[in-house]
Amino acid sequence: MQLSQLLEPQHANLRGDVHGGWIMKLVDEAGALSAMRHSQCRVVTVAIDQMMFLQPIRIGDLVTLEASLTYVGRTSMEARVAVTAEDPIKGGQTYTNTAYLVYVALDDRGKPKAVPSLIAETDLEKRRMDEGAKRQEYRLRQRESELQDLDR
Ligand SMILES: CC(C)(COP(=O)(O)OP(=O)(O)OC[C@H]1O[C@@H](n2cnc3c(N)ncnc32)[C@H](O)[C@@H]1OP(=O)(O)O)[C@@H](O)C(=O)NCCC(=O)NCCS
Repeated sequence: MQLSQLLEPQHANLRGDVHGGWIMKLVDEAGALSAMRHSQCRVVTVAIDQMMFLQPIRIGDLVTLEASLTYVGRTSMEARVAVTAEDPIKGGQTYTNTAYLVYVALDDRGKPKAVPSLIAETDLEKRRMDEGAKRQEYRLRQRESELQDLDR
C-alpha cells in the first residue's frame, strides 16, 4: 500500500519544516488503509509505537508512505509504515522514518472482529512477522501495567 502527498505551507511551521504531527497522521492513514485492505472492514488504531524523525521534511517535498502488514493476531493487525521524502526538483529520495502501528478490525456493532491470517512467504516477511509477534507481546504487557496504574 503506497500513499503519497505533496506537502504544502499549511502542513509546516513558518520556517518551512513540516510538522511531525502531520506526518504521524499520514502514517496512521497509510497503516489503516493496509489493515482495511487485509480485513475488508473498518478498523481503529489501538497502538502506535515510538516514532523518530531522522531527517527534516520541507514544504514542497513529496512524501511517500509505504505500508505493509507485518503481524496479524485474531482481530489485531500490525502495520509497518516506512516514510521517504523527495524534493521533486533536486530529485533523490530521503528515508525519514519507519513506524509500527496496531489496528483492530471492528464489526458493525463496533466489536473486535476476526481477520484473515497473514501468510509470510519470504525470509524477510517471516523475520518481520516474528519481530511483530514479540512487539505485540511487549505492547500487551505495557497495556496491563497501564491498566494497573489506573487502579492505583
Ligand atoms: C480497539 C478496542 C475496540 C479493543 O477493545 P478491547 O476490549 O481491548 O478488545 P480485546 O481485548 O478483545 O482486544 C482486541 C485486540 O486488540 C489487541 N489490543 C488491545 N489493546 C492493545 C494494545 N494496547 N496494543 C496492541 N494490541 C492491543 C488485543 O491483543 C486483541 O488482539 P487479538 O484479537 O489479535 O489477540 C478498544 O480498545 C478501543 O475502542 N480503543 C480505542 C480505539 C480508538 O478509538 N482509536 C483511535 C484513537 S483516538
